[in-house]
Amino acid sequence: MLLVEGLQAGYGESAVLHGIDLAVAPGEVVTLLGRNGMGKTTTISTIFGLLPARSGRVSVGGADLTNAPPHRIALAGLGLVPEGRQIFPTLDVRENLIATARPGAWTLDRVLTLFPRLGERTGHMGNQLSGGEQQMLAIGRALMTNPRLIVLDEATEGLAPLIRDEIWACLAALKAEGEAILIVDKNIDALTRLADRHVVIEKGRVVWTGDNAEMVASAEVKERYLHV
Ligand SMILES: Nc1ncnc2c1ncn2[C@@H]1O[C@H](COP(=O)(O)OP(=O)(O)OP(=O)(O)O)[C@@H](O)[C@H]1O
Ligand SMILES: [Mg+2]
Repeated sequence: MLLVEGLQAGYGESAVLHGIDLAVAPGEVVTLLGRNGMGKTTTISTIFGLLPARSGRVSVGGADLTNAPPHRIALAGLGLVPEGRQIFPTLDVRENLIATARPGAWTLDRVLTLFPRLGERTGHMGNQLSGGEQQMLAIGRALMTNPRLIVLDEATEGLAPLIRDEIWACLAALKAEGEAILIVDKNIDALTRLADRHVVIEKGRVVWTGDNAEMVASAEVKERYLHV
């Protein structure tokens, strides 16, 4: 589904990614873990064509999309829930959802059923929503592109515990439907309930990868690379 090989990228003079390898199979849930500033968002931005790859390859379903523009990445079936949510502030909920929609199983009605809070606020502007509502809207907007893989950067950051639980439940439901997910989040316990596999990065390099059972069993990985 998604294959990233030897990805290198950075900002100006500074190299941040030094050869990231990761893969997500259809229907698989994979985490991208690592402490602050290790390169998770940079990896995602480069996959989505928001930052140029300096070396390496990004392919989706076998097609080489390295340095393709963001709309082509979306057409290939990748949907992004970006760090900081990036809701369109002056569009209302409905407009946010349909702005980048593509036809498929996920329709406006279905997203509003998944997130009833959004259904009650379809006329509210993006900047009139709580953080939790904005995150639901960001997820709904990504689903409206009918992606084969949804990528979430900081899925529950800054949200109240009850809202977090709603997001985790929503992601579990998406997984049960066979949606592939690549997810960044700091809640390792919730991630180990959801994920199939984990990829840990440190200073722009993959330092550990393993399946969920290996992560649960490895206190060392958690302590050494994640400080939990
Ligand atoms: N726009 C930018 N310009 C210059 N340097 C940047 C920029 N964005 C990130 N960096 C640097 O790149 C490195 C990796 O940052 P990145 O945002 O990818 O980390 P992260 O793993 O997503 O961290 P966090 O958990 O805090 O979100 C950091 O050293 C950061 O300071
Ligand atoms: Mg980040």
